[in-house]
Amino acid sequence: MDDIPFSPPDIRQEDIDAVIEVLNSGWITTGPRTREFEDRLVALSGAQGCLTVNSATAAMTACLRFLGIGEGDEVIVPAYTYTATASVVHHVGARAVIVDSDRDSIHLTAAAVDRAITDRTKAVIAVDLAGVPAPVTELLALCRSRRATFSPSSPAQEALGRIALVSDAAHSVGAAAAEGRVGTLADFTCYSFHAVKNLATAEGGAIEWRSAEAFGITGPELYQTLRRGVLHGQTKDALEKSRGGAWEYDIVELGHKANMTDIQAALGVSQLSRLPQMLARRRDILRRYQAELEGSGVELIDHFSCRESAAHLALTFLPAQMAPRRDGIIEQLAAAGISTNVHYKPLPLLTAYQKLGWQPADVPNARRTFEREVTLPLHTLLTDEQVSRVAQAYRRAVDAQ
Ligand SMILES: Cc1ncc(COP(=O)(O)O)c(C=O)c1O
Repeated sequence: MDDIPFSPPDIRQEDIDAVIEVLNSGWITTGPRTREFEDRLVALSGAQGCLTVNSATAAMTACLRFLGIGEGDEVIVPAYTYTATASVVHHVGARAVIVDSDRDSIHLTAAAVDRAITDRTKAVIAVDLAGVPAPVTELLALCRSRRATFSPSSPAQEALGRIALVSDAAHSVGAAAAEGRVGTLADFTCYSFHAVKNLATAEGGAIEWRSAEAFGITGPELYQTLRRGVLHGQTKDALEKSRGGAWEYDIVELGHKANMTDIQAALGVSQLSRLPQMLARRRDILRRYQAELEGSGVELIDHFSCRESAAHLALTFLPAQMAPRRDGIIEQLAAAGISTNVHYKPLPLLTAYQKLGWQPADVPNARRTFEREVTLPLHTLLTDEQVSRVAQAYRRAVDAQ
């Protein structure tokens, strides 16, 4: 029997053809395909605007830089996430305030954020874990309710007049909450198109925003400002400079370099055309897992109470008393040729965050959740038979332990 990989990219002939077309076009870095990808992402979400970059990490960093967040500032992040959600805060010189999960939610809740806000809080980064939208509307209401005590330290913060809400939507391209599509709810929404994501451009990311006017500028101004920030602080991109006689540019800030290339964007445009079918298949696989695991004691993360999950990860939770056996179950599945994963080791359990003073004891709820978590394969190359094989092997491993 073939091994079942965790999350291989789903690359079809049309993706390959799209990349070859760009390679043959004479223009391979940021250019017309990148713009088309941005337009297509906006058409999908309904966001006001979009800038593509080379990762979600770069996207979040660019947003924090735009907001003028830096030394002395705090940004609230969940413990139950990948390091990038928090490391970007330190990249800009601010401090990530890591918040434990509530007992009844793996998402960052407004109640938990409320307890962590100080007069240094400049932003909150919420994560759409597994593709399920975080309670962004409630978080935004909380940020608004704290207006009176907000002390801005940059023109963008001054214009916004409150704590900013950044959505880490690395898992949730194409998802929707009851109040609207992902991309239209938070001040900034940051996507990842990394190789294992639902829409993969090998490496890649994007920033969407709901209202540039909230920062006292127009949409095109916000686009230009963010783009400059990921393009050396340069006033023209390579395509603009390449037009006859248009060589001259200025460097108006010491920018980063994190632009998307047309090669990546070609993959993005091509995959975006298939995204609705890919998300539907992912949800179908989750329903199959749910049915096959019924009565096993294993709980699958709820992808179906929200309006539309992006169905990125099949997080499962063992009964609490089985937590000590979790790694044995993972090994048994590996022996059956089934790759699984664990999402996530809460940040205070990781060395880099311990060096910053965080301890596992700071996040007891996230830790308990992590200790009983196993993520099953979820991707569009899985056949129904393979889904069944995974679920039945999991049931056997759980029963055998
Ligand atoms: C929740 C979350 N945020 C951010 C990232 C970072 O994405 P990228 O690799 O595109 O920077 C990841 C990547 O796995 C992630 O899972």
